[in-house]
Amino acid sequence: MTGKLIAGNWKMNGSVSFATELVEGLLERLNQDAVSADFVVCPPAALLGTVLSLAKDTDLAVGGQDCHANVSGAHTGDTSAELLKDIGCGYVITGHSERRTDHGETNADVNAKSAAALTAGLTPIICIGETEAERVTGDTLNVIKTQVTESLPDDCDPDNIVLAYEPVWAIGTGKTATPADVADVHNFIRGLLNDRFGEDAAKKIRILYGGSVKPENAAELLAVSNVDGALVGGASLKVEDFWAIGVR
Ligand code: G3P
Repeated sequence: MTGKLIAGNWKMNGSVSFATELVEGLLERLNQDAVSADFVVCPPAALLGTVLSLAKDTDLAVGGQDCHANVSGAHTGDTSAELLKDIGCGYVITGHSERRTDHGETNADVNAKSAAALTAGLTPIICIGETEAERVTGDTLNVIKTQVTESLPDDCDPDNIVLAYEPVWAIGTGKTATPADVADVHNFIRGLLNDRFGEDAAKKIRILYGGSVKPENAAELLAVSNVDGALVGGASLKVEDFWAIGVR
């Protein structure tokens, strides 16, 4: 594990010209400033070609926003982890709450997708997080425990997985979890990983926070124990904001 991992989830946004301008802006900053953070951008699948051609042989990593659990086959509209790897991706987001909601993805689905990513040589950024309703009823830690237990593949290598805690109620809402909330959950997640992998191995797993991360709150959130980076949505669409989150 090196510095903080700052990943940008563009979701279903952008265009060829937008992607070109944003990536060129990031590369310009990466070439000018020595940074400790690792930056990853995750564009929509349709823009991966554009982004990968610009990011080739640079310090900017690229990831997909999802992958199918199968290597190939009759899955119209889907993309395999192997294809993402073949075109030059290093990461793939799995289990994002918007896919769990929009596509009914279960922990078992996320487990299979994450296993496929590892088999293909990608690092899955495995998303977990409670809904507002689960938070209100005090079920957050129970939900997180189930998601971590069921979403991580059985024989996964701690060196090659990343977790992202994204409280669903903080995504795109401008409501950010307080540093105390984040510390409680991230410390709990680290404890689960310690129990499963042993402390030395568990230390290698970066736990990102996601949910309304902005330049103005990033320093405070990234200083919280067991926060090893951020999974950024809206703010990743503005190069100066995304850069400011990673460089403090
Ligand atoms: O995957 C990151 C995303 O869910 C967070 O979105 O806009 O709240 O930063 P946003």
